[in-house]
Amino acid sequence: MPAPRLRTALEGVPAYKAGQKPTVRPDVVPFKLSSNENHHEPLPSVVEAIQAALPEIHRYPDYASEGLIDALAARHSVPADHISVGTGSVGLLQQLAQITSGPGDGILFGWRSFEAYPIVTQIVGATAQAVPLDANARHDLDAMLAAVDHTTRLILVCNPNNPTGTAVDRDHLDAFLAAVPRDVLVVLDEAYAEFVDPSRIPDGLDYYRQYDNVAVLRTFSKAYGLAALRVGYCIAGPEVTEAMRKVQVPFGVSTLAQVAAVASLQHEDELLARVRTIIAQRDAVSDSLTRLGLAPAESEANFVWLGLGEDTMSFAAACDEAGLAVRPFAGEGLRITIGEEEANARLIEVAAEWHAGRADAGE
Ligand SMILES: Cc1ncc(COP(=O)(O)O)c(C=O)c1O
Repeated sequence: MPAPRLRTALEGVPAYKAGQKPTVRPDVVPFKLSSNENHHEPLPSVVEAIQAALPEIHRYPDYASEGLIDALAARHSVPADHISVGTGSVGLLQQLAQITSGPGDGILFGWRSFEAYPIVTQIVGATAQAVPLDANARHDLDAMLAAVDHTTRLILVCNPNNPTGTAVDRDHLDAFLAAVPRDVLVVLDEAYAEFVDPSRIPDGLDYYRQYDNVAVLRTFSKAYGLAALRVGYCIAGPEVTEAMRKVQVPFGVSTLAQVAAVASLQHEDELLARVRTIIAQRDAVSDSLTRLGLAPAESEANFVWLGLGEDTMSFAAACDEAGLAVRPFAGEGLRITIGEEEANARLIEVAAEWHAGRADAGE
């Protein structure tokens, strides 16, 4: 029997690898530090908003997500027709690829970066233009600029970068955006925007205000702790936004996601106070790892990166033994999400022991 004919572009599309759950071990409290989630439980006010909306779930959501878009427009002082919402920013990334690129077109991004980038590139049949990060695990914007060619339709700048946590500063981004051809859409993927030091790291919205070819991607999954509800947004000029709405999955953002996101914006101060505690923990974890000599990359996100190269899987195994699920990239390094205080403290213990063992072995 002949098999159904599928698009050949899908052959070789890498599967998205979700963060692993911790191995359950007797007498060990497990922690999941593998998905860059927010370990804080939802705010009671957000849970209340969701509960209040439950009797309505037999109806379709508001197709235009009007309440959420109006709340975002007010929050960021941008017109409502510059905002599109989607099923997480990963859904919006797929839409951005769809509205810009097809076979023969290039989608350019730093690498290693968010693993969805090569996936959405291949899904639309475009060609990945992956440019290695620099020696500090940061985007090499000069090399990215040099890699732009006549095929490039979309540039993804992950700032801060997943999985390395590093961010490009204002001067570098200023120079990059001034030089990129104006007919190429540049997406500033700011999934971790709330975790950066705003005195050094620019707000992508400043560039969206300056350039018609800049779109900013944000999410409620990280700082706002709504990862399971799947809601993100894109702020861009009206032509890009109109195109984004054309390709959106109808009713993709559920009623519960819409009300929870609006409630989160109403109670943003409480959420941002939690973000500040995560930042403080991140800096403490980074300092401890640095003191151990493990040289974490400079993180502006809710996770840290250890570029351990060939030792990556050995450290991941030590974490797993201790009940900590982390995100290893074999041969490259590990991404470790900042979690509960107990989890962070255990990570440092494991790192100290593992590092001492390595020193004893003369490595
Ligand atoms: C850089 C980056 N962009 C986008 C996303 C997607 O987030 P979501 O689809 O939950 O909004 C993630 C999630 O890990 C990310 O790290």
